[in-house]
This record gives sequence, C-alpha cells and structure tokens, in this order.
Amino acid sequence: MKITSADFIKSAFKPKDYPPDMLPEVAFSGKSNVGKSSLINTLVNRKGLARTSSTPGRTQSINFFRINERISFVDLPGYGFAKVPLHIKQQWKPMVESYLKTRESLCLAVVILDIRREPSRDDIDLVEWLTFYDIPILAVGTKIDKISKNQRSKQKAIVKKSLQLEESQLVMFSAVTGEGKEELWKRIGAKLKP
Ligand code: GTP
Ligand code: MG
Repeated sequence: MKITSADFIKSAFKPKDYPPDMLPEVAFSGKSNVGKSSLINTLVNRKGLARTSSTPGRTQSINFFRINERISFVDLPGYGFAKVPLHIKQQWKPMVESYLKTRESLCLAVVILDIRREPSRDDIDLVEWLTFYDIPILAVGTKIDKISKNQRSKQKAIVKKSLQLEESQLVMFSAVTGEGKEELWKRIGAKLKP
C-alpha cells in the first residue's frame, strides 16, 4: 500500500468527542504493551505517528488517524496491565466497549497478540465479545522477530486454536523488520471494499 498521507485527527474519551463517522474505520486493540501503536506506525511508515513506549499503558484515550484521506485508523488503549492505576483501568473497559459498540463506520477490529505468549483470558474475552457483536476480527501475532521460524509456526497454531480463528484471520507480524506488513494491508484492504 502506498501511503500518501497519515494524520493524527484527535484523541477522545467519549462518543460525543469522536470525529465524524465518515470513512471506513479499522480499530487496533489488544493487551497493553503488545505493540498496537508500533504496528500502526509500521503500517503507515511513520515512526512517531502513534505514541509508543516500553512502559505499558502509554495509550490512554481513543486516538483517531486518517490514512490517505480514505481510511480511518483507531489506536485503542490496551487492557490487562497491572502497572496502570486502578482508576484508569476502570475507565478503559467501558470506554473501549462503547467505542466498539457504537461506531458505525467500524469495519474491522484488529486484535494484536504477542506471538510468544499464549492468549490471555482478556484476549479470549475480547474475541468472544467482538464475535457476539458481529464485528469482523483480524488477529495479528506480533514481535515475530523475537522467535525462530520453528517457534513461529508452533505459536501460530496455539493462538489459532485458543481464539478459534480461521487461517485467514491470523497474520504474523513484526514492527521491527516489517514482516507481514503487505499481508496485513491486503487483509485490511479486503475489508474496506464495499
Ligand atoms: P500501550 O499503548 O501501552 O497499550 O502499548 P502498545 O500496545 O501501543 O505498545 P507499543 O507500540 O507502545 O510498544 C510496546 C513496546 O514493544 C515498545 O518498546 C516497542 O518498541 C516494542 N515493540 C512493538 N512491536 C514490536 C515488534 O514487532 N518487535 C519487537 N521486538 N518489539 C516491538
Ligand atoms: Mg499504544
């Protein structure tokens, strides 16, 4: 995918503050520190577009981006990390859920997982929740640069089974090497077509 523009639009906590619902939207979700913001930056070739950090809990609001004036990307706060203060964590769940439930332009929820780990209860709950609300899911196993080819296929099978995914619903990815980027764009593109 050739990127001609990638712009930060706004940050929001509540539906009334979301930007207008005009372009097909892709939301990036997953555990805190898994690499959601890094994945967005790699996809659009902009290192600092979505803010990343080695400290979990970097993204605390819903961040909207516009890509090529055609697609909207949403960086969601991550779940499941102990270091984030409790009062913030308690705000995240309803914030993310009301986004996912109310956003009409949402056409794909990308669920990002650290390929080295077995999916957590939170990951499984998220996939079940999205399925219940009929929101199309694409899972991404990220940080594949950290493991061998052999381990990749082993971990891929574990994730697929645990989340009950079809082969076409799981892409392997690395924000460090860019592996999987074209594949991911292809799957996103397929969802954006009417
Ligand atoms: P929160 O906003 O806190 O929920 O985190 P996030 O999921 O947005 O993660 P972020 O992109 O900030 O990345 C977290 C850490 O993982 C950073 O130190 C990144 O450099 C690192 N990271 C992200 N993707 C990869 C990857 O594919 N490979 C490797 N080796 N490191 C990665
Ligand atoms: Mg983030």
